[in-house]
Amino acid sequence: MHDIVRPTSHFRDVLRQHRVAEQFLEQGYATFPSGLPQYFETMAKGVARLLQDPLEMGRWIVDDPLERDTICDARDTDIGILVKSLDKIEPRHKAEGRLTNDRKQSIHFNPRLVPYLEEQRADLETYSPMLYGFNIVHNTCEVLSLAFAEELDTTLPGFNFLERLRAGWFWNKTRLVSYHDHGKFHRDRNGFTFAIQSNAPGLWLQDRSGRFIRGNETDKASIMVFSSKKFWMITERQFPATLHGVVEEPGRFRQSLVFFTHLGVSKAEWDSNEEIYLNDPRYRVNQEEILSHIAELERQQLAA
Ligand SMILES: [Fe+2]
Repeated sequence: MHDIVRPTSHFRDVLRQHRVAEQFLEQGYATFPSGLPQYFETMAKGVARLLQDPLEMGRWIVDDPLERDTICDARDTDIGILVKSLDKIEPRHKAEGRLTNDRKQSIHFNPRLVPYLEEQRADLETYSPMLYGFNIVHNTCEVLSLAFAEELDTTLPGFNFLERLRAGWFWNKTRLVSYHDHGKFHRDRNGFTFAIQSNAPGLWLQDRSGRFIRGNETDKASIMVFSSKKFWMITERQFPATLHGVVEEPGRFRQSLVFFTHLGVSKAEWDSNEEIYLNDPRYRVNQEEILSHIAELERQQLAA
């Protein structure tokens, strides 16, 4: 009988070899090799085409009334093309009745999107290479996230990361975001994030010592994992969520592929921690200050 190569053992080996869990806890982020970035181009091309096709886009805007009361925030459940709140849409687009923000558009994939698209009679033939990419990336990231949670449980016992990951499993999602604008500095709301690939550099992260470093999101060989707010909550606020944002040439069409896990956190747990988070001056984000600090770092690097 042949041995079946199990992805979990493969990923466990990769994670151990690159000390991913240790680095993640020490720095707030870690980088490691994976085969995932190879799917990015096909997916990005499909998404760019979809965003040019308003009739088809309408079929991908999901009105998804999923158990919104049982989790911390409705934003965590969105799948399909995200409909921005109306105040974020440019007035001239609002006047045309558009539902999405032209400066930043996200598609969230979870396998439950596919039957929805079938129901809507979406053009699955045209977009099948893109959906195929989403499927593979999503499934692989899910397996990878299991291996990572297991590693975290070994490295930092007592917080049941694997159990939490399974509790939030339903809300795992893969995002392909397209934008023409800087991405504001922020901390993600989920558990931990895999930054898989982008078509242009620009990501900056703050490590646990407070230093700003460049992301390596255009590296086609590796991906990055960083820490988000639910991880901070679960670890009793020992491990802050990683501050990050995008600084890039204005007007550039940037696309990025990301996977989010939602570690299971109850509404009460979220609310009490979010209050602490919002009231703690250490977590305030001053966009201008960060942007000028990064501009200075870039000047120094150029001069070096
Ligand atoms: Fe983010």
